[in-house]
Amino acid sequence: MAEQFEGRVALVTGVGKPTGLGYAICEALLTQGMSVYLTARTSAQAEALAGALSAKGWVHPLSVDIADDRQVREAASLIEKTHGKLDILINNAAKTSAYGETAAEVDLAAAQSVLDVTLFGTWRMCQVMLPLLRQSDAGRIVNVSSGAGSHGDPAFGLTTGNQMGTSYAVSKAALNALTVKLALEEEGSSVKINAVCPGFTATFEGGLDMGARPPAESAKGIVWAATLPADGPTAGFFRDGAPLAW
Ligand SMILES: NC(=O)c1ccc[n+]([C@@H]2O[C@H](COP(=O)([O-])OP(=O)(O)OC[C@H]3O[C@@H](n4cnc5c(N)ncnc54)[C@H](OP(=O)(O)O)[C@@H]3O)[C@@H](O)[C@H]2O)c1
Repeated sequence: MAEQFEGRVALVTGVGKPTGLGYAICEALLTQGMSVYLTARTSAQAEALAGALSAKGWVHPLSVDIADDRQVREAASLIEKTHGKLDILINNAAKTSAYGETAAEVDLAAAQSVLDVTLFGTWRMCQVMLPLLRQSDAGRIVNVSSGAGSHGDPAFGLTTGNQMGTSYAVSKAALNALTVKLALEEEGSSVKINAVCPGFTATFEGGLDMGARPPAESAKGIVWAATLPADGPTAGFFRDGAPLAW
């Protein structure tokens, strides 16, 4: 398996803590033989986490705040000079909003800051990295989304009346829409773009006791979308490799 993906270059955003999904994704990609740019908001976070994974393979730390245009372009420029292509972009970074936050009363500046990261930051990553992904013979973008942005998810979806933060839910619904628009634009190229919900994942304290699953389990569905074959789907929304209702 590792040989199959050797030489592939991946970038993962929002790898800020060892218990996060981004860290588990990086570990899984390295185990498959890929070269990985592990990115976090600060170089201290990225260096510490890349150091912890360095025995697994080629992992390079970068500080990339996805809301910062200059940092994103610098990352692209470095990858261009070093590899001349990017095979996999995993947009894992997101800003969450408070449980119970309501549409009627949320401070709009706070809501905008969520969309600035989760929607526009991810959009920026896609725009800036697309020319490099088109240089790959199997470019893949995975937008890590959430059932919270789905109309059909029975547990966390928009119509369930649950208390998921409104701006977070709206940002993920918009991210799903962006995924479709971008993926259809790229249909003539080798780039496939899908949204993936990782499922309820224990990336926070007490998560396992609440029934959330370990990050390594949730990372599998993301790696699946990142390694789709040429006849695999694009413009879809998945969890664990199975379609999820929009
Ligand atoms: N855990 C779940 O049950 C669950 C369910 C559905 C979807 N998801 C999605 O899975 C992804 C990973 O979530 P997680 O559970 O691992 O939680 P998380 O720790 O909150 O991960 C989000 C990461 O994004 C980073 N980030 C925030 N703003 C950023 C920015 N401007 N630039 C770059 N990075 C930024 C955070 O960095 P800091 O550490 O510096 O704050 C953090 O490392 C997210 O997209 C989340 O929406 C998670």
